[in-house]
Amino acid sequence: MARSKKTKPKGKPANLTIETLLTENRVFKPNPVFVKQANLRDSAVLRKAASDPEGFWAEMAGELVWNKKWSQVLEWKAPDAKWFAGGKLNVTETCLDQHLTNGRKNKAALIWEGEPGDKRTLTYYALWKQVNKFANALKGLGVGKGDRVAIYLPMIPELIVSMLACARIGAIHSVVFGGFSPESLRDRINDAGAKLLITADGGYRRGQIIPLKHDADVALADCPTIESVVIVKRGDFLLRVKEGRDHWYHRLMQEAKSYCPPVQMGSEDPLFILYTSGSTGKPKGIWHTCGGYLTGVYATSKYVFDLKDNDVFWCTADCGWVTGHSYITYGPLANGATQVMYEGAPDWPDPDRFWQIVSENGVTIFYTAPTAIRAFMRWGKEWPDKHDLSTLRLLGSVGEPINPEAWIWYHEVIGKERCPIVDTWWQTETGHILITPIPGITSTKPGSATHAFPGISAVVLDEKGNVVKEGGGYLAITKPWPGMLRGIWGDRQRFVDTYWTKWPGIYFPGDGAKIDKDGYIWILGRVDDVINTAGHRISTMEVESALVEHASVVEAAVVGIPHELKGEALAAFVTLGKGIIGDQKLSGQLKDHVARKIGALAKPDKIIFSADLPKTRSGKIMRRLLRDIAAGKVMGDTTTLADPDVISRIKKRYEEE
Ligand code: WT7
Repeated sequence: MARSKKTKPKGKPANLTIETLLTENRVFKPNPVFVKQANLRDSAVLRKAASDPEGFWAEMAGELVWNKKWSQVLEWKAPDAKWFAGGKLNVTETCLDQHLTNGRKNKAALIWEGEPGDKRTLTYYALWKQVNKFANALKGLGVGKGDRVAIYLPMIPELIVSMLACARIGAIHSVVFGGFSPESLRDRINDAGAKLLITADGGYRRGQIIPLKHDADVALADCPTIESVVIVKRGDFLLRVKEGRDHWYHRLMQEAKSYCPPVQMGSEDPLFILYTSGSTGKPKGIWHTCGGYLTGVYATSKYVFDLKDNDVFWCTADCGWVTGHSYITYGPLANGATQVMYEGAPDWPDPDRFWQIVSENGVTIFYTAPTAIRAFMRWGKEWPDKHDLSTLRLLGSVGEPINPEAWIWYHEVIGKERCPIVDTWWQTETGHILITPIPGITSTKPGSATHAFPGISAVVLDEKGNVVKEGGGYLAITKPWPGMLRGIWGDRQRFVDTYWTKWPGIYFPGDGAKIDKDGYIWILGRVDDVINTAGHRISTMEVESALVEHASVVEAAVVGIPHELKGEALAAFVTLGKGIIGDQKLSGQLKDHVARKIGALAKPDKIIFSADLPKTRSGKIMRRLLRDIAAGKVMGDTTTLADPDVISRIKKRYEEE
């Protein structure tokens, strides 16, 4: 790849409160060898899509299996979009049935590896069969169209089977990441009013067993809507079976009929709910539809990952997150791809587990998160260097801004300077990738997600909604797109308030961004109280409420602090009740308390005990100041502070920590 001169990074503060730390000037032109075979290499397609986005999306939708064609591509009455209204489809016919007759019947759909080393490969036919059988089993348990089904499973093939079986019968799945606590599971089940829960006896993570069924039982003590539980036997883990309510997956499968007719869904019918953190209140149940969502994940999988029939695609995400929904379950299967699925940790038993999987299976496209890349960097290049990575032809990144240093390492050590890197920006809410390089067309700049995908309109706006031509501002999506969220489950007002009130009719994702002189978009991170830590989106408010629930805590404020591996880590400033001493032991207890309440993913790295917190005269905690203290920065404006001395006291405590 061609590379232009590197210039020294210089600190350049953008508008707003976000700072851009680097000015990155390296440019990587698309590799000619890659371009020659790329699914999308004609930039006329981009121009055409820009002038007629609906036409572009209609063409993409036309490549899916529909039972009845739509009558209108888009109906848009902000903030409500209807894509392909009047159309009828069942997404599993695109993801599975069509492949039984298009030559892919015996092609591997999933090449799965468990953490202990057990392996299973499912062809498209085998996957189709399991989905049909399990769909019948679910029907037998009284699940039907529109019912909600919660899924709390490790990364095993049954997770994908469960999602698709729900889709087959029109039930709405809500996958809850296996790392969430029983309380978090309970809240999600209750918010969605789920009728059935699919879980497993356990799952493996770093050699340990995650007792999913045990945790689920704790949650279910307080879930009145759940009628049945299906348990997948992953290992031989001890558990209690509740007669009448609990059913073994393998038993149901033995008895189930092998064909289940796909329920024909309206294009706009819900496909799934997925909970994600917002800056206030409880997690938001983001819900997506059948027709638009599938169109979006299909098109982006095809053009961003350049999927071909002989590829082996590996997205390392968990299906508990949207990345696993869109780029494991739906997008790649809609394209008839072969993919790798792995259950466990990247460093188990050694830090070369991923590279071993890549070389053993001949992975050609590899999609992971910057937090993982930084971990690989730290573990050292000797680990990837032990393996043959010559099959790789395209690399992807998602989840947070990738720092140029990590980008270059990824490019050199994993991609051997041969593989294009697609830095893909999107969200649970957007359903699919919106900002990304097109690998056969776009010249990339390390750290920039580059430009909007065809048919997407992304701009940088200032507070008032004026377009920023060059410089910093807020990222905004100005036109509807097929995979956009249709709402927050059960909370219309919050949907409107969160995304659609900053500028009327324009989607506000909550990210700061900068646009450079060449029109490249650089995502600068969240502008609200959401922290991206190790690829997980955590609301500071949720962690604060968890802390305050602890008997010894009176008040808490949580902020993000820069972290070498996680991108951001959580720091909690905590005020204790009268007479309670903040020591090491209590600090540990509070961290465990948060892990128990929300999940280990939300555990603060630092607890700073402080007799008081900086507040405005109206009593609002000034998180910006705490962030500055935590990041060791010079103090911002403190003139609105009720008690200016608080700052120096807290700063002192922080430095002692
Ligand atoms: C937030 C969405 C998209 C699937 C995984 C996360 C950040 C995501 C990028 C990227 C910079 C990124 C944003 C976004 N983000 N991808 N390529 N560059 N930032 O989904 O949990 O809904 O989080 O992740 O801040 O708003 P999510």
